[in-house]
Amino acid sequence: EPAAPAAGEQPAAEGDIIIGGILPMTGAIATFGQSSKKGVDLLVEQVNAQGGVLGRKVVFVAEDTKSTQADSATAIQKLIQQDKVVAVVGEVASSNSLAAGPIAQDAKVPMVSGSSTNPAVTEVGDYIFRAAFIDPFQGAVMANFASKDLKAVKAAIMTDANSDYSIGLGNVFKEVFTANGGSIVSEVSFVSGDTDFNTILTTVKNAKPDVVFVPSYYDTVGLILNQAKNNVGFPAEVKFLGGDGWDSPALFELAGDAADGHYFSNHYSPDVDSPEVKAFIDAYQAKYNEVPDALAALAYDAANMILKGIEKAGTTEGPALRDAIAAIELNAVTGKIKLNEKRDPVKSAVVIIVEDQKQKYFTTVNP
Ligand code: PHE
Repeated sequence: EPAAPAAGEQPAAEGDIIIGGILPMTGAIATFGQSSKKGVDLLVEQVNAQGGVLGRKVVFVAEDTKSTQADSATAIQKLIQQDKVVAVVGEVASSNSLAAGPIAQDAKVPMVSGSSTNPAVTEVGDYIFRAAFIDPFQGAVMANFASKDLKAVKAAIMTDANSDYSIGLGNVFKEVFTANGGSIVSEVSFVSGDTDFNTILTTVKNAKPDVVFVPSYYDTVGLILNQAKNNVGFPAEVKFLGGDGWDSPALFELAGDAADGHYFSNHYSPDVDSPEVKAFIDAYQAKYNEVPDALAALAYDAANMILKGIEKAGTTEGPALRDAIAAIELNAVTGKIKLNEKRDPVKSAVVIIVEDQKQKYFTTVNP
């Protein structure tokens, strides 16, 4: 069933360029989808104010994946068959992008995920791209941060057994941390939807780690941090570490001050001064009256890869657009985007510390 256009959105007319979005607007990771949509909506508004692309108006049609794999597949199918989109932004979660990717690939419709970081996502085929760095880099950033900056020698790892992102990132952390001379003293798993982490947190605490790596999304991480501090009584000197999946205002609603003092890697920080970041934040704040998170920035960049690709190709036709996106070079909000032969950008990461229930820029790590 096609979603009715939201207030203020125009249905597409003859000649418009229609871009699709498969985004988790509801469900476990809904803040990821909502921020992503705001990022794309802002770009489309800016581009149309400048006369559109190839002299044509751009229309963005976003479908809700409900944060699930099954709905991600249905959503992209609908966009391709019914809305005749020329390219798709999304999904956010790697598992969902893996479910949708083969459909885009078969239809020869380019799909650009802003934020999926598992390497397998773009391995699906030559029509699949991303704006984000990949987890072998992100996991190494946090393992090296644990070994070198925090001088940790014992780590525990807590992963979501249903998430390709979580499992992959946990494995990279383990490899790099042990190669650094550290040891993994406890490994436990859970699944999204779990709400009681007291038992596995007690197991982890008893193993006496220096750091606990939790490569998961805010919905579980928020509860884990809360229960670690308030129920299980983790000592404050045990640092919890995570990846980009922590980036949500909802993390602080779930964790309260239990997130303070812990660290995670991310793609962007509003604290970092660059002309691209400043222009993006100014425009985003003017439109939404809030500071954009990394999801908004990455989706803006992903949609920009598509629109710049169309401009360069001079057409929306699949194979030509694919080649143009593959060759894109962009001073994007989240850094310079130039894709390698695997259609992945090679970009810096930032490490964020949580202080007073807010994200604060800590450091930048270059590839
Ligand atoms: N990297 C995550 C994944 O691949 C998604 C994500 C990106 C979440 C950025 C938050 C911020 O599943």
